Amino acid sequence: MTYKLPDTTLSADIVAGWPTLWLNQDYRSGAIQNRDLPVRPTDVLEAKRNWERLAPLLETCFQELKETGGAIRSNLVELQGLRDALGYDSPDYGRLFIKADGDLPVAGSIKARGGVYEVFLFAEGLAKQSCLLSEGDDIRKLAGEQARAFFSNYTIAVGSTGNLGLSVGIAARALGFKATVHMSSDAKAWKVERLLRLGVEVVKHTADYTTAVENARIGAQSDPTIYFVDDEKSRHLFLGYSVAAFELAEQLETLDVRVDEDHPLFLYLPCGIGGAPGGVAFGAKAVFGDNVHAFFVEPVQSPCALVHMMSGSEELVSVYDVGLTNKTEADGMAVARMSAFVAIVMRELLAGIYTVADGDLLKMLLAAYETDGWRFEPSATAALLGPEFIVRHPHGKEFAAQQGIQEKLARATHILWTTGGSFVPDEQFQSFLTQAKAIS
Ligand SMILES: Cc1ncc(COP(=O)(O)O)c(C=O)c1O
Repeated sequence: MTYKLPDTTLSADIVAGWPTLWLNQDYRSGAIQNRDLPVRPTDVLEAKRNWERLAPLLETCFQELKETGGAIRSNLVELQGLRDALGYDSPDYGRLFIKADGDLPVAGSIKARGGVYEVFLFAEGLAKQSCLLSEGDDIRKLAGEQARAFFSNYTIAVGSTGNLGLSVGIAARALGFKATVHMSSDAKAWKVERLLRLGVEVVKHTADYTTAVENARIGAQSDPTIYFVDDEKSRHLFLGYSVAAFELAEQLETLDVRVDEDHPLFLYLPCGIGGAPGGVAFGAKAVFGDNVHAFFVEPVQSPCALVHMMSGSEELVSVYDVGLTNKTEADGMAVARMSAFVAIVMRELLAGIYTVADGDLLKMLLAAYETDGWRFEPSATAALLGPEFIVRHPHGKEFAAQQGIQEKLARATHILWTTGGSFVPDEQFQSFLTQAKAIS
């Protein structure tokens, strides 16, 4: 189908592939309490308890989780040299932190929070249903030989642009499941190779992400031994991500960073289908209420959440419908059509969305590496431009005015949620640097 966005300068910029900031006119305070939402703040608490119950099993399965007792956590790091390099030297920008999900153990991206959670929760449920695990049993039993032999009768399937496939594949194989990952044409070769080394079956599609997911879904439909992790609909993925908000709150408190009516908190969250940023934003709203403002960020050619949410349409609008290509170096965000589930949940909870050009992603990747030694993948660097949009862009100023927080901006805290990078092999990283130098 073709879809005509409203006749405005903003729409013209979007269709022309220019970076811009959209403010969500449906954003409203207190929306997290809306009883009609398909997820509730109490679900975030329940997900936290699930993570805690699964932690001993995670610790047993993954050597790298010994230090944290099975928790999958990332650091919160105040911006240092990169602050100047990005032009954020003025006090107008308040305090700036990187939430380094690209360093997350197990899967090296934010997808560890969703994919690992859903696979381990499924394993626990399956074991209980099959009387392999009873009430009061030690959950570490699921890492034993008997459980592994049982899990090997089942396959976990998923469609992915790369990182979700990595996290689901790694988690599934750690418990002894078979795994099939349907990769979109955007997936980087190193992600495919890493999965193959783990014994994951990888189906490479020549089409985009939506097609990869559809194929994974069809493959799972007729076979009860296949469990499909459905990135377009999954509550488990969404809630797995959401628990990150508790971690953030604890880290901010340790650093004595206040979040209250006088000290707003801004989150900048790279968005593909919307599950990861939506889950984190939802969790943050549950924890910080109206004092947090969550913004998604998308590539200029793949702004699927932007075109759908600004359309107000009941039916999903894709980036192709408005004439964009869905071509981007930011593979994790190369998604043409957002999740309908996330669109419904975020309708009144999302503050806005800004877009970034690929060239800027690469330039920031280079700057982050040269200043403070960060190794980001292009998707992750999208988060770095958030403060610029909020503090300097005319729509950012309009947002501050609407919210009555202009005077509070210098006391605000900005969280640049860098979502992937530490697993990127050297050779691939060097090629990003070379590309970035060529355009700098
Ligand atoms: C590095 C990175 N950032 C952000 C995202 C976006 O997550 P979602 O597709 O759930 O919106 C992805 C998705 O794979 C990713 O790999």
